[in-house]
Amino acid sequence: MKKILMDCDPGHDDMVAIMLAAASDEIDLLGITTVAGNQIGEKTFRNALRILTLINRKDIPVARGFDGPLVRKLVVAPEIHGVSGLDGADLPEPAVKPLKVHAVDFIIETLRKSSGGIYLVPTGPLTNVAVALLKAPDIKEKIERIVLMGGAVFDSNTTPAAEFNIYVDPEAAKIVFESGVPITMVGLDVTDKAIFNFDDIEKLRQFNGKVSRVVAPLLKFFGNANKEIYGFNGAPLHDALAVSVLINPDVVKTRFLHVDIETKGEFTRGETVADVYGITGKAPNADVALELNLPLFNEIVFSHIKKLDESLEI
Ligand code: BDR
Ligand code: CA
Repeated sequence: MKKILMDCDPGHDDMVAIMLAAASDEIDLLGITTVAGNQIGEKTFRNALRILTLINRKDIPVARGFDGPLVRKLVVAPEIHGVSGLDGADLPEPAVKPLKVHAVDFIIETLRKSSGGIYLVPTGPLTNVAVALLKAPDIKEKIERIVLMGGAVFDSNTTPAAEFNIYVDPEAAKIVFESGVPITMVGLDVTDKAIFNFDDIEKLRQFNGKVSRVVAPLLKFFGNANKEIYGFNGAPLHDALAVSVLINPDVVKTRFLHVDIETKGEFTRGETVADVYGITGKAPNADVALELNLPLFNEIVFSHIKKLDESLEI
């Protein structure tokens, strides 16, 4: 069983990511921290609490983190996730009590008191993770790997050069990519293909369980927004793919590459500059996901949401 800490900005695809992690037999979810990204910090935090309330997992600790990037002004994504950050259906009011500690301190404390081997799974801007690494560099030895959703080699979604999570806080991303901690980068090259299409959403709706009944309309909203903006035939479940890599590594194929983060470019802020041909001679620092097994990914999503539905029937 893999011990993981999730750092997220829910967000529809973060929601599915949390659900997979909570339901998986392969994962021991030690806690969830939240960060501003898809929406302001207050909303992403509230959404995390609402998601855990829906799936009745009050046992999973939640800590709120930064309300904005290290040095930049926050950019949010209401055009994709709505004004609440999770538009499309009503989630229950939070009945989960959060921790009083800051996300960064929760990450540090959890890692320090562990015997190591922990996976960090960031699915939002990397602000909390970067500060934790700066504040307590000793935690690096307790981290098995950072499996993050962010970046792209041959794709983009926020500017012609950049993916959202890296674009929002490129300075934080630079700290993380230069930290020396092993990284798996699950970026748009695979997540833009991890489409839960409108037929899949309808199939999920027909499960008609306590969780699927709420998730299906949420994904319909998210799919419609993605159709409108990117022409996708459904919901790209970016963050859920990062968690799926921990559930079954066969879901993607990776290449070990050197990745630099652009923090200064006029048009390229937040670009993940990947050295696919080894031109720079710099040592690789990230396993970059470049191929997706979509049927396997879909199977993971369906089976885990079904499991949550069933857990709530009892
Ligand atoms: C990423 O940006 C957010 O909108 C999603 O939740 C995902 O983490 C995709 O670029
Ligand atoms: Ca996210």
